[in-house]
Amino acid sequence: MAIASLSPTVLFLLLLSVASGDAIAPFACDPKDSTTATLPFCKVSRPISDRVNDLIGRLTLQEKVKLLISGAAAVPRLGIKGYEWWSEALHGVSDVGPGTRFGGAFPGATSFPQVITTAASFNATLWEAIGRVVSDEARAMYNGGTAGLTYWSPNVNIFRDPRWGRGQETPGEDPVLAGTYAAFYVRGLQGSDGDRLKVAASCKHFTAYDLDNWNGVDRFHFNAKVSKQDIEDTFDVPFKMCVQDGNVASVMCSYNEVNGVPTCADRNLLRNTVRGQWKLDGYIVSDCDSVGVFYNTQHYTATPEQAAADAIKAGLDLDCGFFLAQHSEDAVKKGLLKEIDINNALVNTLRVQMRLGMFDGEPSAQPYGKLGPKDVCSPSNQELALEAARQGIVLLKNRGPSLPLSHLHHRTIAVIGPNSDATVSMIGNYAGVACGYTSPLKGIGNYAKTIHQIGCSDVACRDDMLFGAAIDAARRADATILVMGLDQSIEAEFRDRKGLHLPGHQQELVSKVAKASRGPTILVLMSGGPIDVSFAKNDPRIAAILWAGYPGQAGGAAIADVLYGTTNPGGKLPMTWYPQEYVSNLAMTNMAMRSSPRRNYPGRTYRFYKGPVVYPFGHGLSYTNFVHTIVGAPKVVVVPLDGHRHSRNVTVLGKAIKVNHARCNKLSVGLQVNVKNTGSKDGTHTMLVFSTPPAGHWAPHKQLVAFAKVHVPAGSEQRVPISIHVCKFLSVVDTLGVRRIPIGVHHLHIDNVKHPVSLQAETLGVIKS
Ligand SMILES: *[C@@H]1O[C@H](CO)[C@@H](O)[C@H](O)[C@H]1NC(C)=O
Ligand SMILES: *[C@@H]1O[C@H](CO)[C@@H](O)[C@H](O)[C@H]1NC(C)=O
Repeated sequence: MAIASLSPTVLFLLLLSVASGDAIAPFACDPKDSTTATLPFCKVSRPISDRVNDLIGRLTLQEKVKLLISGAAAVPRLGIKGYEWWSEALHGVSDVGPGTRFGGAFPGATSFPQVITTAASFNATLWEAIGRVVSDEARAMYNGGTAGLTYWSPNVNIFRDPRWGRGQETPGEDPVLAGTYAAFYVRGLQGSDGDRLKVAASCKHFTAYDLDNWNGVDRFHFNAKVSKQDIEDTFDVPFKMCVQDGNVASVMCSYNEVNGVPTCADRNLLRNTVRGQWKLDGYIVSDCDSVGVFYNTQHYTATPEQAAADAIKAGLDLDCGFFLAQHSEDAVKKGLLKEIDINNALVNTLRVQMRLGMFDGEPSAQPYGKLGPKDVCSPSNQELALEAARQGIVLLKNRGPSLPLSHLHHRTIAVIGPNSDATVSMIGNYAGVACGYTSPLKGIGNYAKTIHQIGCSDVACRDDMLFGAAIDAARRADATILVMGLDQSIEAEFRDRKGLHLPGHQQELVSKVAKASRGPTILVLMSGGPIDVSFAKNDPRIAAILWAGYPGQAGGAAIADVLYGTTNPGGKLPMTWYPQEYVSNLAMTNMAMRSSPRRNYPGRTYRFYKGPVVYPFGHGLSYTNFVHTIVGAPKVVVVPLDGHRHSRNVTVLGKAIKVNHARCNKLSVGLQVNVKNTGSKDGTHTMLVFSTPPAGHWAPHKQLVAFAKVHVPAGSEQRVPISIHVCKFLSVVDTLGVRRIPIGVHHLHIDNVKHPVSLQAETLGVIKS
């Protein structure tokens, strides 16, 4: 979203329209208003579809077009108030959107780690738990009149290029990880009370949006040229899972064009795919001013009326901005759009508002109606923010091992670096106002005496003026902890990075301090995107490296808990850490996922890139050791074909069955895996299961097909059942974008343990290939 694309005056008016904090009057159907409360659309006992149709039938065209935008107008004659649709809750209730404000009884909200950190936990239960807490706080604030009920989160775009400034907001580079995150976080936000929504989430930005501003190309002008194959097996996967597994109430289309068509005007993407194939039960919203952008900036249509008509006919239901309120009525008058097209859009938005209970009268009498200030920043909510940070921290290096530190031997710690006393930097972007902060300095201070030196005045680290004092501190301490990395001045919305090294003179500071340090030197990195820290990986004086992402309001406490071994780290990298050379000749605008040795193109993400890495996707150490054994797994799995295909030859092509031709229901490969903790410390293991499909040019060389998280006490063993859905996860996509199940041996691997499973087509004999 780009707040910048709305004019300042308009934004000011939106802010003014937000209530001040007292419990709110009903949005519509106020029982005290006898003329409107008895209208059929207010009758809670009637089916929502009838209520929606009744309401639409009462609206004039002029009233309707004013409901097509995020600042939806009131309809006073029907007792309906105005509503601001734009609120955000990426990792806590945020005030980035004008629908939510902090202050009064709600000075802040629990600020969880940035999503890239939470993703590193690979714990779906945690993602859902965070969603539940965020929606409790959101409902409490709504009840107090300071927040909306429609949240344009999560961001589930694939973290395709390591330079992307918004990679931090995403669950990483793997489609299955991102899709699973989407489904669980959305379930947590929306609740599971049948049709009723606790809050409405939105998966964004659909689709192939992962470039903000690189080398003179920005997202408002970018035409992403994407193959059908990459769309189907990479870019669309998280959105499909968000809709089908998460039942999300909204999808947001993006600013960029895909293959020459703005996504918000693309009927094939919106109406045919999201609504038609995936069966979205919810509304499609534009990114903020996307429709204006494709008319004014991309010059996609000749007139604004045509732009409005194209968007609505493509399947857009709500415009974040003003464009549709300004031009839809004229589009109807010019015959470019029918009133029924507008009605269809309103069916989707009004249905969501009704599922939220906004037309059910008194909010306090409804489910979630009792949530209030005491439910925001409560001790248990803040404890979950701490727990999430602990689960997301990744131990990248531990030479010796030198971690965990010991209370007895490491009593005085030099805490150095521009992020050593970070507070706001720890919550990343799309954040709100946190309940409070524990900085790394404060967290470490709970375990030891600290000597603090920032070393560089900020993360840009433009000079070495403060190096001397930092080096001196390291000489005097029992151990040195350098808290380095990035913040929003380096990577952010509309700010892609130029390279992957630590900014400015940071690397020099780390090396000089490590050389002078009396005790072990530990490097702690805060960043959303990966950093080329080869120098530190290879420097024997740097004993250990931790990546904390942006760890949220309690990040410093979690970092200290990991450093001192109160928490045994179990996080794994959700994205590849590439060396700088990887990006030096790689255009961020090249969307191809697959490598092309002929064109000297390296490919993207661990699924397609095979070159050198600093740390691979899935890397993460523990203070103990885990050993896997596969104790139960089939050697052969037969894929049944659907009845009509038996005698034809359409199903097997290149020895891969079309998923559409297989009977997929419940078809899965079941594994039993024993995880033994062979070390001396209890630990939580993150088990990643990859598959290598039979060789063929369509397939990634490796893809994540399942993951599980298990706590194993020292010396004991746990059995972990894994189920891999064959059609969803063992399929690959051909060059036409058709998903197929390769027949033959698929190698499943967990660390260095491999298991071959042969997929065979039920009636292969009958079918000629
Ligand atoms: C069988 O497949 C071949 C090769 O794909 C094709 O040329 C032929 O028309 C197909 N036959 C039928 C009956 O569909
Ligand atoms: C996953 O997260 C939840 C919520 O914090 C936690 O209760 C559970 O123990 C975690 N799972 C594992 C195996 O650590």
